[in-house]
Amino acid sequence: MKVKARANSNIAIVKYWGKRDEKLRLPTNSSVSITLDKLWTETEVEFDKNFDKDVIEYIDGKFRKKEILRIIEHLERIRNLAKINTKARVVTRNNFEKAAGMASSASGFAALSLAGSRAAGLNLSDKELSILARQGSGSACRSISGGIVVWHKGEDNQSSYAEQIKFNDQWGLRILLVKIKDSKEKKISSTEGMKKALLSPYFKLAIDEAEKNVKRTVKALRENDWKVFGEVVEAECFRLHMLTMTSKPPIIYWKPGTLEVFSQVFEMRKKRVEGFVTVDAGSHVHVICREKDVEKITMKLNKIRDVERVLVSGIGKGARVI
Ligand code: PMV
Repeated sequence: MKVKARANSNIAIVKYWGKRDEKLRLPTNSSVSITLDKLWTETEVEFDKNFDKDVIEYIDGKFRKKEILRIIEHLERIRNLAKINTKARVVTRNNFEKAAGMASSASGFAALSLAGSRAAGLNLSDKELSILARQGSGSACRSISGGIVVWHKGEDNQSSYAEQIKFNDQWGLRILLVKIKDSKEKKISSTEGMKKALLSPYFKLAIDEAEKNVKRTVKALRENDWKVFGEVVEAECFRLHMLTMTSKPPIIYWKPGTLEVFSQVFEMRKKRVEGFVTVDAGSHVHVICREKDVEKITMKLNKIRDVERVLVSGIGKGARVI
């Protein structure tokens, strides 16, 4: 059977940076993310008894050997769940560049989990899909349900999954995806970076803070408290990068352009044009703001020499079969 699915990427507001269990990808802390309507992956999976091996194709690019092995491992998980041993053909494409802090593994493994499980004859619930996607890539578990999502760190495989948070958007929430020039593919993957972070002397403190920030975020969203929400967004960006910078050896994902964007966003805030910055494992900046300020912020950031482009994203939907 052949099934095609689309899943949107997500940007973490409360960051995941550390694993308790490498194999199952159980995180050291819970996290929260916003689904991005502008960035997605489409994946088609076909299981056929006539195939003698798994074939993985990436339209408009090339997968590295390591990535192919990771996809085949995920097909193995799906085959185990469906109790089949048929080989598959996977064809995937992103509408954005891989890595460099634009989470392609999140949308990628979410789309693969949905298309793959359906093509294998399974009809999994969102919770089951989230558990499956998490084992491919942690952040992928947050790209199943859509909207704003909390990933409960859980105790074990079955209790570590993500679900949508009830949120009535009175802000017209927008995410500006600010691409910094010359940002080649990130050199240190999140898997590698997370291992190194465990050696930071601040790790335990950072984990406790993340759990508090999950609670603060959920409360701020429920109460439509923009100020607290914004404070947590930035605190979490700097919590993650404090961990990377104090890892052994240190990792610095930022580029000069990243800092220039921070500085302009902070300046605009003094004039009540309120955006808040966040950065994942790369140099690109995501500015979270309200609809009313999109134009002013975009115009200002587009003038920065090191900014290649600013893309305006809204809140995206959950993974779906197309
Ligand atoms: O799931 P991964 O391996 O792509 O790791 C994601 C790590 C960050 O994007 C930096 C943070 C997060 O919570 O998404």
